[in-house]
Amino acid sequence: MVREIVVYPDKRLKLISKEVTAFDGALHDLLDDMYDTMCARNGVGLAAIQVGVDVRALIINIPLEDADGGDEQPKENTLEMINPVIIEQDGSKKFQEGCLSVPGYYEDVERAKHVKVEYFDRHGKKHTIEDDDFLAVAIQHEMDHLEGKVFIEKLSYTKRKKFEKEWKRKIKEGVV
Ligand code: CO
Repeated sequence: MVREIVVYPDKRLKLISKEVTAFDGALHDLLDDMYDTMCARNGVGLAAIQVGVDVRALIINIPLEDADGGDEQPKENTLEMINPVIIEQDGSKKFQEGCLSVPGYYEDVERAKHVKVEYFDRHGKKHTIEDDDFLAVAIQHEMDHLEGKVFIEKLSYTKRKKFEKEWKRKIKEGVV
């Protein structure tokens, strides 16, 4: 089921999400709904708080390049990360990011190039993953949401000011 997305500057995006303690049906429903919601909005990642639930759960599904009109984001390709923790990070690189909670806005953000992360799957099984490409960027972006942070907070002062001005205008015009 597609849920409503929490849009900036909604205060819920500032909440620090809580650890998941029950890997139960409610968590599975949440993750399934997050997948439906992400696909409906053509996103590549989503954190639970973006559908208004403040728990440490996120999903990422990087579209397949060779889908040829088929399903570019098959559900079985979805990386579901519960209670993720970065255990290693190094390097840095800039990448253009966007966010379903800041629709239509894209800007370069600098993050660690390589990350190694421990997380649990929907059944409570522990996993480790590492990456130094787009997945590493996506993981860091989504994990920021668990700490109540949105990517625009990483912009320079000038870019942020320009963004806030434009965003206010968009809200006034009712386009976001
Ligand atoms: Co986001």
